[in-house]
Amino acid sequence: MKAVVLYDSNYGNTKTIAETISGALNGMAAKAVPVASFNAQELHAGDLLVVGSPINGWRPTARITEALSVLGADQLRGVKAAAFDTRLHIFIHGDAAKKISKSLQEHGAEIIAPPQAFYVQKSEGPLDVGEGAKASQWADSLLKELAD
Ligand SMILES: Cc1cc2nc3c(=O)[nH]c(=O)nc-3n(C[C@H](O)[C@H](O)[C@H](O)COP(=O)(O)O)c2cc1C
Repeated sequence: MKAVVLYDSNYGNTKTIAETISGALNGMAAKAVPVASFNAQELHAGDLLVVGSPINGWRPTARITEALSVLGADQLRGVKAAAFDTRLHIFIHGDAAKKISKSLQEHGAEIIAPPQAFYVQKSEGPLDVGEGAKASQWADSLLKELAD
């Protein structure tokens, strides 16, 4: 059983969270994969796919949306999955993680955790203090879901 943490990132903040999650998935062969290098053929039933994107214009980046939209209807059947986004503290921030979760489910994945948000202080970052620890804890919660 392996884990792929697929991400897109303009300024490196989502990449940092993706790498933290990947590093905290102890006991699994886990890697953080930039969207340009994603190969869905690598994923098999029982594997974990975590997908993260910055919110850009109230939605995931076009690259993440495209990478998921080209998957076959049933391509993620048996794959466990979860999604996260990075976002600003603004009143109307929109959403990426929820949209990604929906797309993962539409392609057959089993969603094992609610969509998770991580916060940046400004568009370019940095991440809020404590978001790294929050990412590790979230990864732990994913491991617990997988063990149940
Ligand atoms: C073109 C653009 C559009 C953005 N739109 C939103 C948005 O709709 N909601 C939001 O909360 N943040 C928005 N942001 C801020 C991003 O969420 C922030 O840049 C991102 O979390 C940083 O992560 P990254 O370093 O991985 O790109 C936007 C940023 C850019 C550059």
